[in-house]
Amino acid sequence: MSQPLLELFAREHPAFIHLPLGLVIALPVAMVLSFKSRHPAGWTRTAFFIALLAFAGGFLALSSGLLWGRQIALIPSGSFFPLVASEAQVVQKMLQLHEIAAAVGTALGALCVLLLWRAVRRDRGRDPDAAAPRRRFADRGVGAAAFSVCLLWLASWAFCGKLGGIMVFGNEATNKAAAAMDAARKADAEADLPIRALDYASLEPAQPAALRSKAHGNRWGRVWVTASGIDAYQAGKPLPSGAYAVLSTVEDAKGKPGQDPGPLYMRETLTDGTSAFLLYWPRVPEAARTETGGEDSVYWRSPSEKLAACAGCHATAGPASATPR
Ligand code: HEC
Repeated sequence: MSQPLLELFAREHPAFIHLPLGLVIALPVAMVLSFKSRHPAGWTRTAFFIALLAFAGGFLALSSGLLWGRQIALIPSGSFFPLVASEAQVVQKMLQLHEIAAAVGTALGALCVLLLWRAVRRDRGRDPDAAAPRRRFADRGVGAAAFSVCLLWLASWAFCGKLGGIMVFGNEATNKAAAAMDAARKADAEADLPIRALDYASLEPAQPAALRSKAHGNRWGRVWVTASGIDAYQAGKPLPSGAYAVLSTVEDAKGKPGQDPGPLYMRETLTDGTSAFLLYWPRVPEAARTETGGEDSVYWRSPSEKLAACAGCHATAGPASATPR
């Protein structure tokens, strides 16, 4: 398929699903009629074709849903499920359940088609208008097994559809989550600039003069620590919760501290005792871009994976080791 067609196929997911869903709703009706004594073989065959169409339609709906989820970045490309990192991600959690219900329904659909196919084969060669042979009730028409599987199929897809409706139109939980995210963004004063790191000069200097830091690109730098953490820092102890340290750097000029500002590093002890990191380097000189994966301006914050290297040396909240673990 061409790109625009593929995009249309993905975006029209909410429209696509109605065909298979409608067929699965019609299916039990045909099945019930097959239990009656008139035209059991005919109704069994009808049920088989309805189920086959519903299954095929479900498969299309499944793939368009997956494409759509990836297109709007709810599902990481290459994976089948959204990442649920915290309880607050209501939509992601709902999408996960929605997908599981869709897949379970489709598997039940496959089983149902198979059972119906067996019933159709059993009735082959029999006059469709002839009266039903005398059988146990459970073996009449499509059979009790196929009928029960069909009801479970319908239930899974109905649950799936209910969640889908909530995701598209919203409910109290999703609206609350969206409002909470808005509020968090507004409360995050550092969303665009690392205000506290840039204000490092208001902190306590940990050394009287610049030192060269091998661990941070061999740059010259000074460490600045909040008043709440300076004593612990000087004693080589972990910073208390809420305290943070900033390492301000300048580029090297032939073995001496140069004029150009280098990256700004920050580590903070969060209230749960873990560390958060930050790297702010608004203008990365061309020669140094190997350090930033080619980026010419960097503002990275935990939990960004780009800061994994920091945690390699700063594994505990205490003094860092000079080499990564
Ligand atoms: C190779 C190991 C290593 C890596 C990688 C590393 N650090 Fe450090 N870091 C250290 C060491 C050792 C110190 C102590 C001062 C020094 O020797 O430069 C330190 C000091 C610091 C300080 C000053 C406060 C303190 O704890 O001493 C900050 C802030 C800091 N690092 C942040 C970072 C950030 C942010 C990153 C990732 C972008 C990072 N570090 C990556 C080893 C490392």
